[in-house]
Amino acid sequence: MTAYRLASIPGDGIGVDVTVEARKVLDRASSQFGFSVEWTEFDWSCERYARLGAMMPDDGVGQLSAFDGILLGAVGFPGVPDHVSLWGLLIPLRRAFQQYVNLRPVRLLPGTTSVLAGRKAEELELVIVRENSEGEYSAIGGRHNAGRPDEFVLQESVFTRVGVTRIIRYAFELARTRSSRVCSATKSNGLIHSMPFWDEIFAEVAAEFPDVHSEQMHVDALAARMVQAPDRLDIVVASNLFGDILSDLAAAITGGLGMAPSGNINPSGEFPSMFEAVHGSAPDIAGQGIANPVAQILAAAMLVEHLGETVAAQAIRAAVDRVLDEGRVRTPDLRGTDTTERLGTAVAEALG
Ligand code: NAI
Ligand code: MG
Repeated sequence: MTAYRLASIPGDGIGVDVTVEARKVLDRASSQFGFSVEWTEFDWSCERYARLGAMMPDDGVGQLSAFDGILLGAVGFPGVPDHVSLWGLLIPLRRAFQQYVNLRPVRLLPGTTSVLAGRKAEELELVIVRENSEGEYSAIGGRHNAGRPDEFVLQESVFTRVGVTRIIRYAFELARTRSSRVCSATKSNGLIHSMPFWDEIFAEVAAEFPDVHSEQMHVDALAARMVQAPDRLDIVVASNLFGDILSDLAAAITGGLGMAPSGNINPSGEFPSMFEAVHGSAPDIAGQGIANPVAQILAAAMLVEHLGETVAAQAIRAAVDRVLDEGRVRTPDLRGTDTTERLGTAVAEALG
């Protein structure tokens, strides 16, 4: 029997509630599909920051490096600035483990309705492939003349040939397993250095994949298309910032943030990959036990899929579909009154 060693970092707010449910479902799936999981939990969070002055220990990266995968809840809590939680945990892990792909599949799940009127499930299924290690999310820059009338800030972006090529190539390879369509998000009319470079590399990689249909759109027009004609999109490849924004939009037009999973993937397998819901710690509903656990359960499905347990991953997704389609158990974001725990248990039971 294959045994996996997994790290769990529930984090803050609803991250904790939804991670409990995702583990419940994953544990049930493991006993059913012939593998075993040994969990190690880490209390790295804003709460730890408040206590000890750091989101994670100095050797945090080292402690995680031997695991087969990481399930992360969400970090962020009022009182701790968001850049502290992000740059104190999430971004260092993504970078140290070369998780340069941020994969965000979204689809309209059965039994749920899109905010876009009249859209059927098969018209709303796409994957955002977001660059996850460089781009606009760079620490280069600074604040100058603080407090003076001539105060200014500089915020630099970093786009490397290696970084841009590998993310675009990943998108094209993924396209071969799906619809064979890739759309690149650009903005080469406004960002006159980074985006023409991105476009040039996109064209070079596209030439290596003559069997895949490729196109590029300015990110603003692409956002409009996502709302008006989402069926014309399948794989969208985007820089760090554009991908971040487009994936929340994609989540919003499908089931909402409560149902959108994501993976921070190290394609070489040299380091562990990390899976998490797209949503944050939702302080507005934290501690109430009413968060929708589906996003995190689908993140757990992506985790086991990444480990090669494809049948278990498909079974988890099918269990989610069945429970939502039945519509008996619904959290408040799905216009129901059920708890996080009840929806998680319903999915675990639907596995059989
Ligand atoms: P958020 O995703 O936490 O919440 C946005 C809205 O969606 C809220 O009204 C929330 O109640 C709702 N929502 C989110 N997930 C839900 C779920 N599973 N079920 C039902 N409703 C849900 O984003 P927000 O408010 O911008 O950020 C809150 C904190 O989370 C901040 O500190 C932010 O930095 C952090 N954050 C952390 C992320 C991570 O750890 N990867 C990602 C995004 C935000
Ligand atoms: Mg985001």
